Amino acid sequence: MSATATDAPAVRFAAACKSFGDTRVLDRFDLDIPRGEKTVIIGPSGSGKSTLLRILMTLEGIESGRVEICGETLTDRFDGVERAPRGRGRLRKIRGHVGMVFQQFNLFPHMSALENVACGPRLSLRRSRVEAEAEAEALLRRVGLGDKLGSYPLQLSGGQQQRVAIARAMALRPEVMLFDEVTSALDPELIGEVLAVMRELASETSLTMLVVTHQMGVARALADRVCFLENGRLVEQGPPEQVLDAPENPRTREFLHALNLA
Ligand SMILES: Nc1ncnc2c1ncn2[C@@H]1O[C@H](COP(=O)(O)OP(=O)(O)O)[C@@H](O)[C@H]1O
Ligand SMILES: [Mg+2]
Repeated sequence: MSATATDAPAVRFAAACKSFGDTRVLDRFDLDIPRGEKTVIIGPSGSGKSTLLRILMTLEGIESGRVEICGETLTDRFDGVERAPRGRGRLRKIRGHVGMVFQQFNLFPHMSALENVACGPRLSLRRSRVEAEAEAEALLRRVGLGDKLGSYPLQLSGGQQQRVAIARAMALRPEVMLFDEVTSALDPELIGEVLAVMRELASETSLTMLVVTHQMGVARALADRVCFLENGRLVEQGPPEQVLDAPENPRTREFLHALNLA
C-alpha cells in the first residue's frame, strides 16, 4: 500500500453532487472522516443520509465532485459523468473496505445464522468452509449469539437478527462500517442489545463507523462527532455534547426540538 493510501482519511466527500431527476440530494457535499472515527449522521427524512451511505457502498454514483474510501477514488469520470470504476477487480477491492447494515436485516431466510455469516467469506475471500465457519462462530459469539448458530432468521428476534447482520458485515473484515437506522425497526426493549454490540465494535478503535440514526440515545452512545444534514448539506457538526445539547444552528435546534416532541 502506498503512503498516500495509508495516510488518507477513511472517507472523503469533496464537492460531491448527486441528484435524482430534479431533486438535488447532495449539494457540493464535503466531509472527511479520519480513520477510526465514529461519526453519527442525523437529519430530517429525505435529507440524503441513506444516499450518502449508498454512494460509499458503490450502489449509487455521483454527478460531479469526488468520493474516496481509504484513499481509493470511488468514481471514474468519463462522458462528463462520475461512474463506478471500470474493472471488477478494482470495484471488489473498494467494496472490500466497506461493510453495511440496514434497517431491514436482509438475512438470507433459508440459511442458518452461521451460514449467513460464513457465506460472504467463502464466496468473496475464498475461505474454506471449515475456516469460514470457525470465524463465523467466533463473530456470533462476540455478538452474544453463540447459542444460536443453527437458528434460522425466522426463529430469531429482530434484535438477534440485527446482531447476525452486524456479524455478517464484520466477517468481510471491513475498515469502514456503515449503519443505516439499524435500530429503527426494533421494539424499544431490543435496541439496547444491538447498541451494546455497536458500542463494543466502537471500542475497537481501528474500525471507522458511520452511523445514521434518529435515536439520539444511539448518537450519544457512539459518536465522536455528530453531523446534522439537511437538504444534502452539512448544516452543523461537532462533538455530541455540542451539537445535541447546545446546537448553534437554528435548523439543528428546530430538528432536535421536533424530535423531543415526537
Ligand atoms: N432511487 C431513488 N430515485 C429517486 N429519488 C430518490 C432515490 N433515492 C432517494 N431518492 C430521493 O432522494 C432524497 C434523499 O433520500 P435519502 O437519501 O433516502 O434520505 P434520508 O435517508 O435522509 O431519509 C429524497 O428526496 C428521496 O426521495
Ligand atoms: Mg434513510
